[in-house]
Amino acid sequence: MEEKYRDKTFSAQLIRWHKNYGRHSLPWQNTKNPYLVWVSEIMLQQTQVITVIPYYNKFIKKFPSIKSLAMASEDQVLAYWSGLGFYSRARNLHRSAQLLLNENSGNFPNTYEEIIKLPGIGRSTAGAILAFCFDKNYPILDGNVKRLLSRYFGIIIPINTSEGEKKLWELSKNNLPDQEISTYTQSVMDFGSTICLPKKPSCHICPLMKLCSAQRKNLIDKIPIKKNLKKKDTKKTHFFIYEFKKQIFLIKNRSSVWRGLWVPPNEEQHQDLNGNIQKNGERQCTFSHYKLIFKYTLISFDQKPLLKLNGIWYHSKEINDLGLPAPIKKLLIDLSN
Ligand code: ADE
Repeated sequence: MEEKYRDKTFSAQLIRWHKNYGRHSLPWQNTKNPYLVWVSEIMLQQTQVITVIPYYNKFIKKFPSIKSLAMASEDQVLAYWSGLGFYSRARNLHRSAQLLLNENSGNFPNTYEEIIKLPGIGRSTAGAILAFCFDKNYPILDGNVKRLLSRYFGIIIPINTSEGEKKLWELSKNNLPDQEISTYTQSVMDFGSTICLPKKPSCHICPLMKLCSAQRKNLIDKIPIKKNLKKKDTKKTHFFIYEFKKQIFLIKNRSSVWRGLWVPPNEEQHQDLNGNIQKNGERQCTFSHYKLIFKYTLISFDQKPLLKLNGIWYHSKEINDLGLPAPIKKLLIDLSN
């Protein structure tokens, strides 16, 4: 590796910065328990710290160990994930806990080779767990770290290409400190989300400013460079919300990103019974790979309709305890007000 891509000051400054300015009391810190760190890292993969905190606390209270998570039903686990999105994270967490209970006596492994085999754990999450819990020198590479490294080292390869990823992994690996890996790992995460921000970074208080390549070349607003991705596809569906005496009919979704979550019948499942249409509308939500536009129709019934569908009538008060996708939960709450 060229010398300009290895810089010991980088990790030394970050470790020093963290002691004074980093985050030290997040609920998943100050522990070496890999189960706790694992759950937090999975939640934090696509969700911000501020959103994760209450979900993490409730999840850990309900499922305090690998065994308790493995023994729970998928329905229970999804209910505790409801609103966080990217539900495959919860399904993989649950499946991994079951694998660990059956094949490793409920213990979390401590080698990269074993950790990376678990469903839902990629190279960066494995690195974070190894650094935080086992003090092992492994690199991480999340969005914050990509931004920080590409600015500091002046990387102009688009970061969302395989070439860019490769370069950044190399940088991340080659700039690990000789000691204090756990502090360093938390520091690169914290630094990227508090100082080296995507827009308007706080360069005036940045201890790396003098050595930062993007700063020196006046490229802070340009780096990281991203290649334009193709526009997201749009999918459409129509949900029919049957209401009878404050109860709502819901079906367990069998496919799509909302697999395992409770949703109203869609246009294919809808049965045209003689209810009263109360409201029609349209909403949309965005996933990582597509946009979903959904129409909805609220239909109330004076008598409980005989449905051929495999679903359950839930009282509207119960919906808080079910695994519902956040946009559907919001719709049902809005419609009940
Ligand atoms: N994002 C991913 N892991 C994190 C952590 N441990 N602390 C703060 N933000 C994070």
